[in-house]
Amino acid sequence: MIADKISASSRLRQADFEFGVATSSFQIEGASRVDGKQASIWDEFCRQPGRILDSSHGDVACDHYHRYEDDIRLIRELGFEHYRLSLAWPRLITESGRWNEKGADFYRRLLECCHAHGVTPNVTLYHWDLPASLQGAWLNRDTAYRFADYAAMAVKHLGDLMPRVSTLNEPWCSSILSYDLGYHAPGHNDRAEGLQAAHHLMLASGLGLQAMRAERSDQSLGLVLNFEALQARTEQDQSARDLVHAERIRFWMDRLFNRDPSPALMAQGRVDEQSGDRAIMAEPLDWLGVNYYTRSMVGAADNPRGYELTNEGETERTHIGWDIHPQGLTDILVELHQDYPLPPIYITENGAACDDVLEAGRVNDELRRRYFQGHLAAVDQAIEQGVDIRGYYAWSLMDNFEWAYGYTQRFGLVYVDYTTQARIPKASAMDWQRFLRTR
Ligand code: FCB
Repeated sequence: MIADKISASSRLRQADFEFGVATSSFQIEGASRVDGKQASIWDEFCRQPGRILDSSHGDVACDHYHRYEDDIRLIRELGFEHYRLSLAWPRLITESGRWNEKGADFYRRLLECCHAHGVTPNVTLYHWDLPASLQGAWLNRDTAYRFADYAAMAVKHLGDLMPRVSTLNEPWCSSILSYDLGYHAPGHNDRAEGLQAAHHLMLASGLGLQAMRAERSDQSLGLVLNFEALQARTEQDQSARDLVHAERIRFWMDRLFNRDPSPALMAQGRVDEQSGDRAIMAEPLDWLGVNYYTRSMVGAADNPRGYELTNEGETERTHIGWDIHPQGLTDILVELHQDYPLPPIYITENGAACDDVLEAGRVNDELRRRYFQGHLAAVDQAIEQGVDIRGYYAWSLMDNFEWAYGYTQRFGLVYVDYTTQARIPKASAMDWQRFLRTR
């Protein structure tokens, strides 16, 4: 069972430790151009040949836009009392920058539905679906200010239903992975652009926090970062490993705590930073979300970044090819706790892609069950070592559009049959239900 590796007295067994599931708007909603929604950069990216592994898109996805009531009911039936979801910025703000009542109606109904079922929403404002009409996207400093406008409007109109809000999901992905490594929208390959986008995203987060605080004072506001464990391939690769560590972990934390990021990293770009930016980026958080999936091996390489990553550890891997390495989660949390004055932490994503097959109405996702077991134990270990962790969200409620992998990767606790949109809880979901019911 999922909780087999945590002790009887574990903090995770106490009723006030929060368990939830997570999703994001573009990955599940569908309804891509209804009720006044404008196109996002992901709508456009999916139309470009060769970008998405199975040439798919988010036009229908899990059709959550029309099925949200059943989905929320399912979350509660599985025993979860928390749900991390994101709002689609292009649904809420029109091309001319105005609030879109029709889009807002959908989120009002969805959030009310959560509350009615005893499910507390944890809302992310930006999980990568940027309005395509914003010229220059994250390379344009102005986008950070447009984000703050959007954050203020979201809180003004929907704040009564959103007790917990985060500004951004994984800004590393919407900067480095999107502008430097080129795997995500808009798919550029430019190291300096990646670093500039990273700066603008952290600026956006700080401005967004300030704008929301000016609007109301009763919300718990956070930011969600993604971290991975990093191991040098050989001793000679150690400095490359340190550089990746600076890029993927320290940069974001240093920005939050107004410290200087690694000079070796910053020397790879020409970041346009204006006076006052640092204080904005260090706007205090009420909580920090940590997403964790895997460990990567780092080698030095002759490219603009000076490194390359592979998943070639001696460990088991998930269907997407990511090493399973729970110890890395404990290590990162303890390192952060030692080095920074952290606010309360929530594990906002953690999960596994499996080669799930539906057989006789069932999905036996043994590897996913073990994955959760190992990672819950890792969270427990970090708490034992003093880290203030308050909750854990499994990625994901259901199978969905996995970005550049399209529908080829299934991360859900619930299997989705994309031809009928049937939802079928997998063995891991039943495991969660047993654990949460007996807690
Ligand atoms: C994270 C994303 C999430 C999902 C998982 C597998 O990086 O935040 O949307 O794609 O990976």
